[in-house]
Amino acid sequence: MSKNIMDYETVELDDNDSCVVIIDQTKLPGKTEIIRLYTAQEIWDAIYLLKVRGAPAIGVAAAFGIYVLAKQIGKETKDFETFYVRFQEQKNYLNSSRPTAVNLSWALNRMEEVCLKAGREDKKPLAEILEILHKEAVEIKEEDTWVCKMIGEHGLSLVKPGDGILTHCNAGQLATSKYGTATAPIYLGQERGYNFRVFADETRPLLQGARLTAYELHSSGVDVTLICDNMSAMVMKNGWVNAVFVGCDRVAANGDAANKIGTSVVATVAKRYGVPFYVCAPTSTIDYDTPTGNEIKIEQRPAEEVTEMWYKERMAPEGVKVFNPAFDVTDNELITAIVTEYGIAKAPYRESLEEIRKKKEEGRRSNEN
Ligand code: MRU
Repeated sequence: MSKNIMDYETVELDDNDSCVVIIDQTKLPGKTEIIRLYTAQEIWDAIYLLKVRGAPAIGVAAAFGIYVLAKQIGKETKDFETFYVRFQEQKNYLNSSRPTAVNLSWALNRMEEVCLKAGREDKKPLAEILEILHKEAVEIKEEDTWVCKMIGEHGLSLVKPGDGILTHCNAGQLATSKYGTATAPIYLGQERGYNFRVFADETRPLLQGARLTAYELHSSGVDVTLICDNMSAMVMKNGWVNAVFVGCDRVAANGDAANKIGTSVVATVAKRYGVPFYVCAPTSTIDYDTPTGNEIKIEQRPAEEVTEMWYKERMAPEGVKVFNPAFDVTDNELITAIVTEYGIAKAPYRESLEEIRKKKEEGRRSNEN
């Protein structure tokens, strides 16, 4: 019997073979192809080409990736300072693969911090530094599963059995280690007999909603209906949607949230029809150093994604100008609440996100004691 897509790990480390193992998401849902990434170029390409995608999964892939590359550097030198220069070069290279999802730099910075502490402060030998890097990368992945589960619990408190839920892009298991963020309340609700009716936006131009979200949810037995992006107003006006849950790639300190292009259209429509709009955000996605959404760098992608990709033949005139931003920013005033693993933040967001930061710090301190 063939394996269900939910039985696969989105991102894994094969430490014996020193590589990162991922499902090539560009081939889904037609083909489940597992690929192994050994070199910096392969890891960079996999992230840039969206073979692995979704903010938390990109973070996990980068953490495993820099560990694999650190092992290679460790074969070339035993001197920490020489090792560290090469480590930083590889880190900066991986960090350049996609600009908007803050989890990429967040995970790489975490890896660099433990590397520096072990090597420069604690003067550990390279073999031990590699063990520490390995432990940190595994922790980043394990934490992600816990984080998503907690987002699911908090998100579930905002809806009731039988509700209609709309989601955009894929903030599901394929974007994380397990449960997803926006899909976590849906999966937990499914386990508890909530019988949600889910609407998945197909999400032009890369179709993550159709290829990934509809696939995941359908494979899990969730009642899911696929709609084109321009149908969300109709389903909301019809009263079929009680809540919108979306993921995010970077939340600014004032609560503006960058997510897949089209998210802010859904938020605007939701406001018009009085449907609560929830952004599901692991605290790793909150960027307290970015004051507002205006400062978030938006990734621009090739025109071919709009004019040719997925079509049998080109569907736009040769030479036409194309605008293809991968993300947009939803203004905080359109967001009913931001759901994190440490609780639910509501406007005014500067204050409520600070409260979330304090809760996280307290959680960390009590874990250390
Ligand atoms: O370009 P993608 O497919 O990486 O975009 C993904 C999204 O926008 C997701 O909603 C976001 O990363 C959150 S994933 C939990």
